[in-house]
Amino acid sequence: MGVFGRVIMLMMPITPKFIIRWVANRYVAGPDLESALVVMRQISAQGACFTVDVLGEEITSLAEADFFVEEYARVLDAIVAEGLDANISLKPTAFGLLIDQSAAVANIERITRKAAENDIFVRLDMEDHRVTQPTIDLVTTMHERELTNIGTVLQARLFRTGEDIANLSEKLANASDVRICKGIYLESEDIAHTGYHQIVEATNRAIDQLLDAGSYTAIASHDMPVINHSLAALSERGLGPVTNESGEVGGSLRNGKGPGYEFQMLLGVRGNIRRRLASQGHRTRVYIPYGSRWYEYSMRRLRENPDVAWHIAKSIIMPWTNRR
Ligand code: FDA
Repeated sequence: MGVFGRVIMLMMPITPKFIIRWVANRYVAGPDLESALVVMRQISAQGACFTVDVLGEEITSLAEADFFVEEYARVLDAIVAEGLDANISLKPTAFGLLIDQSAAVANIERITRKAAENDIFVRLDMEDHRVTQPTIDLVTTMHERELTNIGTVLQARLFRTGEDIANLSEKLANASDVRICKGIYLESEDIAHTGYHQIVEATNRAIDQLLDAGSYTAIASHDMPVINHSLAALSERGLGPVTNESGEVGGSLRNGKGPGYEFQMLLGVRGNIRRRLASQGHRTRVYIPYGSRWYEYSMRRLRENPDVAWHIAKSIIMPWTNRR
C-alpha cells in the first residue's frame, strides 16, 4: 500500500459515517434480512446463487450467540420460503468459539441440523490463525455426527493449508467441500506467505490439490491470475460448466457434494467477471453480507487489510465505479 492508501486509512476513523455507509452500501446488502432478500432477488436474474452472512464476529459473552442462532434460523426459513438457491456462511467466533468451544459446537450444530432438514449447506468462514484448527475440527465433528452439509474455508496464504487439504480429503472423502481463498487476515511470515506472487502461486497450488483430491472446490477470488489458472485447471481435468438435473447449463446442486466446483465472489466486487463466468455456464455464487454491524465490519476489514483503503478511495474519487 502506498502513502495514499495509508492516508485514507488514517482518515477513516474521522470520516463521517454517512460516507462510509455510502461506500459500504455496495458491499453490504443492508441492515436486515429483508434487504438481503431484495438484493438476492435482483441478482438471481444474473444466473448466480448465494451464500448469506449475518455480519458479526468475536462475541464477548456467550449470550450474544443467541442472536446469531436465531437470525440464521430466520435466514434458513426465508431461503426455503422464497425458494432461493442459497446457502449460509457463518463465523464460528460469533457462536462463541473463542469463549467456550463446546458451547460453540452446540450452537453451530443447531443451525447445521436445521439447514440439513432443508437440504441447505453451511459454510464456516475461516477467521484468523487462532481458530484455524478449531474451525476444521468443528467440520469433522459435524460430519462424525452425520451432518455432512457443512464445510469450511482454507486460506492459501497459510503454510499449513496443503496439509489441511490432505487431511480433510482423507477424513471426509467425497463429502469434502472447501472454499479456497487467499486469506484476508494479514498473518505473520512465520506461518504465512506475505508477498502477492507467493500468495497467488499458493492459491493456484491449493486449487489444483483440491480438484485432484476430488473435493468440491469453491474458488473464491476476484483475481484474474487465479481465475485464469482455475479455468485452465478445470479444463485439463475435464471439469467444465455444470448442468443440472434438467440438463440446463449453470444449474445448481444445493449441497455441492462430490467432485465439482463453483466460483464465488463478494457482493459488489467484479460483478462483470462473475456475470461473464455465469454466461459461460460456470456456477457462480455471491457472498451476501447483511446486518446492523456493517460499520464495525467495514472498519475491521480495513484494519486487517489496508489494501481495501484503495477501493474506498477509488469509490470517492470515481463514484461511478462504486457499483455492484
Ligand atoms: P485481490 O485482492 O488481488 O483482488 C483482485 C482484484 O479484485 C483487485 O485488484 C480489485 O480490482 C478487486 N477487488 C478485490 N477486493 C475488492 C474490494 N473489496 N472492492 C473492490 N474491488 C475489489 N478470507 C478469509 O480469510 N476467510 C474467509 O472465510 C473468506 N471468505 C471469502 C468468501 C468469498 C466469496 C470471497 C470472494 C473471499 C473470501 N475471503 C475470505 C477473502 C479472500 O481471502 C481475499 O482476501 C479476497 O478475496 C481478496 O483476494 P482476491 O483473490 O480476490 O484478490
